[in-house]
Parts: sequence; structure tokens; C-alpha cells
Amino acid sequence: MRVIPEHMPTAIRYRLAGPDDALAIGRLARRVTRRWILPEQPASAAAELLHGMSARVIRRKILAGQRFHLACQQDGRLAGVAALRDDCHLFQFFVSTRLHGRGIARQLWQRAMRDAVRRAGTRQFTLNASAMAVPVYRHFGFVRSGPPTVSRSGLLTQPMRLDRH
Ligand SMILES: CC(C)(COP(=O)(O)OP(=O)(O)OC[C@H]1O[C@@H](n2cnc3c(N)ncnc32)[C@H](O)[C@@H]1OP(=O)(O)O)[C@@H](O)C(=O)NCCC(=O)NCCS
Repeated sequence: MRVIPEHMPTAIRYRLAGPDDALAIGRLARRVTRRWILPEQPASAAAELLHGMSARVIRRKILAGQRFHLACQQDGRLAGVAALRDDCHLFQFFVSTRLHGRGIARQLWQRAMRDAVRRAGTRQFTLNASAMAVPVYRHFGFVRSGPPTVSRSGLLTQPMRLDRH
């Protein structure tokens, strides 16, 4: 595996996903989820989380018009994904582990937000954050919108929202 030193800029291209990207999105999402999110969740929550990351489910969502914004490396490999439902709810947000801390999530979020505002004039964005991502979302201007919630399978998330003024 090629290791990119922290200080080296990585050339990243941003684009919208099509149905053929579903497989790669699912792989990245599951890999990053296993590494960073599942360890902080009860075992019972894994199936619920990973179900939405199967290529079949992602392809169906893309075909239904949900917007998956991609960050791609020069060789075409996927570096990150930000997916928005109804132009207002961020439901997938992942960057490949070895590329963390280089501003890729910031770029993805800005593109996703601009796209939603352009399409729907969105004034409020929402999401349910993993514990790890709460400080990142705060950097983007999100605030906690209520107490942490626990789903039926035990999945623990922090609801957050961002209001555009
Ligand atoms: C959350 C995640 C997408 C961030 O990706 P990233 O590319 O490393 O983030 P960036 O480098 O663009 O940083 C975004 C901002 O958050 C800040 N930030 C990044 N990691 C941080 C951390 N651990 N603590 C505090 N701030 C952090 C950065 O300083 C940056 O702020 P700025 O733009 O104001 O300078 C990535 O860590 C990830 O994939 N995590 C695992 C999956 C996950 O939890 N996803 C969220 C599901 S709800």
C-alpha cells in the first residue's frame, strides 16, 4: 500500500455519483463504518447501519434521485462520499481513513450544501451524527438539536441541525 505523507496535497476531483458508483460507495462506507463507527455502537446496531450501505440499497437511492457527492482520487478510487436526502438531510458522510484531515469532508459538505440550496432553497439541514463526527459537524456550523437518540436496534446518534440565515 502506498502511504501518502501528511503534508503532501492530494489531487481530488469532485463529482456527482451515478448508479454505477454504488458498489464503490458501499465498499468505502462499510470499511469506514467498521473502523470508526461500529466500535462505539452496541453489536445489535451493526446490521441496521450496514444495511443502508449495500450496493443494492445505494443504487436504488441514486436512481430515486438522492444526491451522492463523491471525492475521487486521480486514479479514480473513491476518497469520500456525502449523501443528502430530500436536499436537506445528510445521511452518509465518509472519507477514506488514510485521507482524513485534508479538508475532503469540508469540500464535500460545501458542494452538497450549495447543490441543495441551488435545487431547493434549503434553509435548514439536519443529520444524526456519530460521536466521532460531532466536532467535525460543529466546525461546519451544526449545533445539537436535541438529546442523543437510541434506535430500536440500539444505534446511538446525536441529532444536529444547521440553519442558514
Ligand atoms: C467525519 C469525517 C467524514 C471527516 O472527514 P475529513 O476529511 O477528515 O474532515 P476534514 O479534514 O474536511 O475536516 C473538516 C473540519 O473538521 C475539523 N476536524 C476534523 N477532524 C476533527 C476532529 N477529530 N476533531 C475536531 N475537529 C476535527 C477540521 O479541522 C475541519 O475544520 P475546518 O474546515 O473548519 O478547518 C471522517 O473523519 C470520517 O469519515 N469519519 C468516520 C465516519 C463518520 O463518523 N462519519 C460521519 C457519520 S455521521
